[in-house]
Parts: sequence; structure tokens; C-alpha cells
Amino acid sequence: MSDRYAVIGNPIEHSRSPEIHALFARQTGQDMEYGRILGSLDDFADDVRRFIAEGGRGLNVTVPFKEQAFALADERSERAQRAGAVNTLVFEGNRIRGDNTDGAGLVRDLGCNHRFAFAGSRILLLGAGGASRGVLFPLLEEGPAALVIANRTAHKALELAALADDPRVTGCGLDALAGQRFDLIVNGTAAGLAGGVPAIPDDCLAEDGWTYDMMYGREPTAFVRWGREHGAARALDGLGMLVEQAAESFLLWRGVMPDTGPVIDALRYY
Ligand code: ATR
Repeated sequence: MSDRYAVIGNPIEHSRSPEIHALFARQTGQDMEYGRILGSLDDFADDVRRFIAEGGRGLNVTVPFKEQAFALADERSERAQRAGAVNTLVFEGNRIRGDNTDGAGLVRDLGCNHRFAFAGSRILLLGAGGASRGVLFPLLEEGPAALVIANRTAHKALELAALADDPRVTGCGLDALAGQRFDLIVNGTAAGLAGGVPAIPDDCLAEDGWTYDMMYGREPTAFVRWGREHGAARALDGLGMLVEQAAESFLLWRGVMPDTGPVIDALRYY
């Protein structure tokens, strides 16, 4: 019988992870199957234990269960601890190992696929929820000169900045961005779910600056359009990050790193 994996979330029907992992498995010749599980909102741990009892080897975890997956894991990687969330579970014997590949996925997409020059750059990270926390430390490891976390609710940005405990990091409200310029603006807010963008100044992107939306869709997202309209040298969406975080999970489970380029090309809508 093939080794079993799945992605668990709620909602889950639109997840592209099964497609991605099927392409990885075919490419690397791994004998595995990968499904999707609609997690119950009040019984996440039961759903996971049932999957393990049925022979499951690992899970990807998505909204809204990443914090619950963190709590459920018997051991957590350092990057999961820093993210405060788990997006990858590995089942080994009786132990549940939790990891987080989201930040690595963003950094690989920007740095390896698109060759963004992190060293010495000024980064603006929009939002102070789980999505932003998940990528904060991996971004800092790439050596930017400064990283500003800006959030609609300022105190949450200040709290996340304090958690980073790094002299390069500051937190503020969106209105405090006036007069500042950034080489890279990463959107980790949920504003795009309603088709909006955070209220940031029109001139906060440096010349040749890039924008990156952690979301993606069939059409360019609102923040991709914002980047294009404000002269971004590159205005990227989160499809590459999605495939790269999946590849990092695949590596944890199977010990093989797939070639992500063809998979990103196969999934791209536009
Ligand atoms: P996630 O775990 O996906 O990051 P979250 O914890 O609910 O979700 O965080 C959502 C983030 O998007 C928050 O930073 C939120 O700002 P607030 O802390 O002020 O709520 C931000 N956000 C959501 N809608 C927004 C909007 N229309 N404009 C700007 N920021 C928005």
C-alpha cells in the first residue's frame, strides 16, 4: 500500500496541495498518495489521530488549524517554535513531530526563484497575524538591514516586533509609514480576502522595489495590482511560496527535494 499523506484545513476544497504533491511524487518516483481532509472545527486532534490510526504518515496543516497542530505535536522544530505554528506534521511511531515550512517557502521563492537581493535591503512586512509571524524570522536570517512590521492595529505590530528581539526590527501602525521607503513589501494581511489592500502610502516603494503578496488567485490579487500600479520592479503573488513550502514538507517526509520550477509553471493560472 502507498504511504498516505493529506492536507487538513477548513475550508479545504480549494487547496492545491494534492495537485502539487501528486506532481512531486510523479517527478521523484515516490510511491505515495496525498488527499484532503475537511477538519472539524472542534475536533482537530481527533481528526489527526484517526488519520494516524489509518496509517497516515504526515499532514500539511492549513487555516485555521496551525496553532492547534503546534499544541498537538510532541516535539517542534525551532522554526515551528519561532512561528508559533505548525504547517507540517510528521508521524513516526507514536510521536508527532511538528515543523513549519512557510517562511522557508517564501524565502526560497524570493531568493532562489526570483533572485531578490535580501542582504542590506529594507523590508516592510504588512500585517501582524500568524501569516506574518510565520515568515518574520526566516526573512531576518537573509540579512536585511531593516524590517518594519506595520499593522492596521499598531499594538499587534509592536508586540510582534518585540518578539523578534532584533535591533533591525520595528513595529508601527500603517499611518506611521509616511516618508519611509522599502526595497521589498510583503503582504501578510487578510485584506485581500475582501479584495482590498492595506492602507499604505502611495510612495513607500523604493525605486526598483519589489512587492510580494502571500496570497494568490486565478487573477492577479489586489496587492499584485497595487505593486504594478506603483512601479514595482516585480509584483509577485504567493503561488511560488505555496509550492516551495510544499517542497520543504515533501523533503521532511520523503528525504527528497523535488524540482519546483515545473510545478509552479504547471499550477500558474495567469
Ligand atoms: P493570519 O493568521 O492569516 O495572519 P490573522 O491573525 O487574523 O490571520 O491576521 C490577519 C492580519 O490581516 C492582521 O494583521 C489584520 O490586521 P488587524 O490586526 O488590524 O486586524 C490584517 N488585516 C485584515 N484585514 C485588513 C485590512 N482590510 N486592512 C489592513 N489589514 C488587514
